[in-house]
Amino acid sequence: MNSNFLNGKTAFVTGGSRGIGASIVKRLVKNGAAVAFTYANSAEKANELVKSIEAEGGRAMAIRANSENADSVKSAVTQAIKTFGHLNILVNNAGILDVKPYDQFTMEEFDRTVAVNVRAVFAAIQAAGPQMQSGDRIITIGSVNADVTGFPGMSLYSMSKAAVAAMTRGLARDLAPQGVTVNNIQPGPVDTDMNPAEGSMASILKNMIALGRYGTANDIASLVIFLSSPEASYITGASLDINGGFMI
Ligand SMILES: NC(=O)c1ccc[n+]([C@@H]2O[C@H](COP(=O)([O-])OP(=O)(O)OC[C@H]3O[C@@H](n4cnc5c(N)ncnc54)[C@H](OP(=O)(O)O)[C@@H]3O)[C@@H](O)[C@H]2O)c1
Repeated sequence: MNSNFLNGKTAFVTGGSRGIGASIVKRLVKNGAAVAFTYANSAEKANELVKSIEAEGGRAMAIRANSENADSVKSAVTQAIKTFGHLNILVNNAGILDVKPYDQFTMEEFDRTVAVNVRAVFAAIQAAGPQMQSGDRIITIGSVNADVTGFPGMSLYSMSKAAVAAMTRGLARDLAPQGVTVNNIQPGPVDTDMNPAEGSMASILKNMIALGRYGTANDIASLVIFLSSPEASYITGASLDINGGFMI
């Protein structure tokens, strides 16, 4: 793969201020894309990321858009399309993990998980999909928890990640006539604020991973880059595990 194979391409990443999303933004820029990304609260981190990219000659734009609100997500996509002229790659990365015994969740918390992890994904795809062209890509960051759940308290999160896996299959059919592929990446434990490798769950989780270590945000970004490349043109509707051999 040519290191600047994304020259002239544009991308939109939800939740790009920290963690896996920030790595995805950096890697897309490194390979030549201009990237717009959203954040909810971390304005400082988002602006720092834009500055560091611009200092190295790249192009990035941060947009505040809370994924709890589908209209905000759609507006952010529209803003990016207006600025860049078109969008070639959409990465739905923003997500929340709410862990709690099932009988303690409020219905508001149920709705929030669905809004951020599922509804916003659909909203972004509705906004970006129609202007996409042959070779363009839609990639969602799901989770290994779509298929396996090693702990109690994960009911809503697991549900939301199974929903995006199924949505990916449906949308892959919908967008195939346009030549656009739609895929879902399912990471295992990845060292971020959401799931620190030194956190309370880490010692238990590490024992469940064949390779014996957490993934890095960059590991996940590598798969996004592969799926964005022409090498991945025959992959669509897939949920791809990237988990170091988690619970196998
Ligand atoms: N870490 C793991 O072990 C793991 C494993 C499997 C899947 N995943 C998935 O990978 C994705 C990224 O996770 P991460 O570990 O990088 O999480 P993280 O460290 O908590 O970062 C989350 C990112 O999403 C943004 N975000 C959160 N809520 C948002 C909202 N309502 N609206 C807009 N942006 C929002 C955050 O923005 P602010 O900075 O503004 O808050 C931040 O940029 C998620 O979909 C997660 O479910 C993570």
